[in-house]
Amino acid sequence: MTEDLKGLALDAIATSAAADDPDYPSFHVVPPVGRLNDPNGLLVDGATYHAFYQLSPFHPHRKLVYWGHSSSTDLLHWHHHEPTIIPDSFYDRSGAYSGNAIVLEGRELDLAPAQAAYQLFYTGNLKDPVTDERTASQCLVTSNDLTSFTKWPGNPLIPTHSQGYTAHFRDPQVFRDPDRPGEYRMLIGVQRTNETGAAVLYRSRDLVAWELEGELSFPGAGGAFDSFGYMWECPGLVRVKDEDTGEDWDVLIWCPQGITPEREGFENIFPCVYTVGHLVGTELWDTDGTFHEVDRGFEFYAPQAFARRPSEPGPVLLTGWAGNASEDDQPSIQTGRWVHALSLPRALSLRNGRLIQRPATDLPDDAGQSALVGRPLETGQYEVVELRGHRSWQLRLEANAAPSSGAWGLRIGSDQSHVDIVLDEGALRVDRSTSRYTQYGAVRTVTLPEGCEPVLEIVHDRSLTEVFVGDGILAFTLRSFVDVSSSGARLLVERPLELTSASTRTFPPRPDAL
Ligand code: FRU
Repeated sequence: MTEDLKGLALDAIATSAAADDPDYPSFHVVPPVGRLNDPNGLLVDGATYHAFYQLSPFHPHRKLVYWGHSSSTDLLHWHHHEPTIIPDSFYDRSGAYSGNAIVLEGRELDLAPAQAAYQLFYTGNLKDPVTDERTASQCLVTSNDLTSFTKWPGNPLIPTHSQGYTAHFRDPQVFRDPDRPGEYRMLIGVQRTNETGAAVLYRSRDLVAWELEGELSFPGAGGAFDSFGYMWECPGLVRVKDEDTGEDWDVLIWCPQGITPEREGFENIFPCVYTVGHLVGTELWDTDGTFHEVDRGFEFYAPQAFARRPSEPGPVLLTGWAGNASEDDQPSIQTGRWVHALSLPRALSLRNGRLIQRPATDLPDDAGQSALVGRPLETGQYEVVELRGHRSWQLRLEANAAPSSGAWGLRIGSDQSHVDIVLDEGALRVDRSTSRYTQYGAVRTVTLPEGCEPVLEIVHDRSLTEVFVGDGILAFTLRSFVDVSSSGARLLVERPLELTSASTRTFPPRPDAL
């Protein structure tokens, strides 16, 4: 008898105590039970945002990966839905791995054999129980209402890896070809048979029949990406506008495993990087091989952008996994049988070839100004009274200090157990060494990019903190398991300072109906 994998997952969810865990974030996407990893199939549908994600409901007992599903109308209140892709087909029974979504409209719908507005692409992972040999295929799930989902009967669309590559061939990103209307492209992260990483492109007119075009190459990059790690996971191309020039760029964001550049950064097990160019055919032009990490924090990986209908344009929103591979031994596994979360969506733009990321949930214009604003602050600590008693909040601080004029920042938690986020001598220093989660990094110092303004924006949600410096020029995501009995934050001032602005808002605990 075949197992009822959906029923088993629903049972695990029904008995979950995750929402009672004091570390369970209030306004982020979190798993209803078990382990979450990459965001998948992110999409905007009118006024509703949908986030799917890698979900292992039985973690740590059984590593079986589904697609979980949450939705929100404000990016702050997320509702759990039933798991969407169940790994119960011959081609995905070792896991429904990562992929993305595309939302069709008008004539596009008539031309797609699947006749469904929402098309979700993913990798079917199959491991032979006897030989352990892996087969990776690219598959389709469709929906017309985002409530019921159907696996395409013709799955798998691309049954195996192509010649010259290994079975590490996964994480499809499907997008419209802006240069050839009516055609679609699929970007897949791969490993060559010589064990170097790359990405390949496929092309389709109907989203069902796919033809290999070739490997993504970088003609102006001087070979920088030709032998760049042993596998590329989760590649994605997003078109982003430069704020100053108005020019459109194609930003390639991907996770090359096994690179060790000799410069500051790259401390996580695997990095997530971007490079900026213009896609022409299978070539990314106008990149000279420069790359940067998307986020400099301890936990950040595998981000992707939300898909939109062409008739509903909007900002490019990016969400990542606030976690890393093989780092699942977090306190919440013991206290609530859940682990990991997605980052808040960030609105992307570019300035001078650098990605700018701002929380998509802007503080409202009339957000309360803290009583700390507008008076000289001597060396010391100052409670941000507006945050007293709150464990989920957003705060934006602007100081009249140059970033190099003396340390200032924020302490989240109590004196015994806290995270310090400090701007000091042209650097951001994050210290979580007194928190309950330090084993994959306790203190990190990041040099601020040139011209970085003394603006510190922090989004804190119980055990997850996202830091944005200089109006989005630097992003730093981390898990922050501080003292659960303490709340709020204190301003740390090591040299006299004046805040010119300090706006705050707080969030109540989630109502959680699972
Ligand atoms: C990245 C990744 C993807 C894969 C998925 C499996 O974190 O390894 O390459 O599709 O996670 O859960």
